Amino acid sequence: MMVGIIGIVQNIVGGDMTDREKNMIKHIKGDCLDYLPTLDDKTIQLAMFSPPYFNSEKKYQRGGGFHNTVPVGEPLFDILEVFEILKNKIKDEGYICMNIGFSYSEGKVNRVGELIRQIERRTGWHNIDKIYWHKTNPIPLRGRLTNSVETIEVFAKYPLMKYPKKINYEHNFIETAVAAARAENKQKAYPIELPLKCIDIFTKENDLVVDPFEGSGTTGKACEKLNRKYIGIDLIND
Ligand SMILES: C[S@@+](CC[C@H](N)C(=O)[O-])C[C@H]1O[C@@H](n2cnc3c(N)ncnc32)[C@H](O)[C@@H]1O
Repeated sequence: MMVGIIGIVQNIVGGDMTDREKNMIKHIKGDCLDYLPTLDDKTIQLAMFSPPYFNSEKKYQRGGGFHNTVPVGEPLFDILEVFEILKNKIKDEGYICMNIGFSYSEGKVNRVGELIRQIERRTGWHNIDKIYWHKTNPIPLRGRLTNSVETIEVFAKYPLMKYPKKINYEHNFIETAVAAARAENKQKAYPIELPLKCIDIFTKENDLVVDPFEGSGTTGKACEKLNRKYIGIDLIND
């Protein structure tokens, strides 16, 4: 399969781009499992993403089809491959921020906790922090409590990491509305507050941030605002 079939350098300001701007924001159309290995080792400061929801009927996607055969509601263990590849690509002092929610399937809660333990046990990443996102406009449920929270799970190569930002009593909590659904593949975009907080805490200006499941490119928009370099990858490119 062709890697990074189309690499688009987005014009982030309109009009002519300077060389600096050209290098800041990149959108790659392709499979992240093919594209990530082509990046230089130890160049990424933060990988920030929301993987395809693991309660989704679509499952994990590769190429043009859907290849995950586990039943709906089971963890997507293929995400471990992404963590495995990122081990060489992220700097030793870098981070992964994975936004993940749970939902109910066949009467039970999906096993987010087990997925995190699998990531730790099988890829060597350490789950060192957690940020809670409270959605002010969740889908209302009857018969079960309305599921209004998701987390951002923070991973590092070493447990005792000193964050790039000096933390003074900052809460691990974001409260905001769910962003509008993405038109083409109906995947939900996360609100920009999520990548803004993670980029602010886990990177410094001009660091490289990668979103292997970029969807509508929210992480990239946060990078523009905070002056970080960005590469976003998605099978579908708007
Ligand atoms: C939950 S959405 C991400 C939404 C994104 N955070 C935003 O704010 O728009 C997950 C995305 O992963 C993409 N995707 C699924 N499998 C992929 C793969 N193997 N490589 C790259 N992108 C993939 C889907 O096309 C979808 O757009």
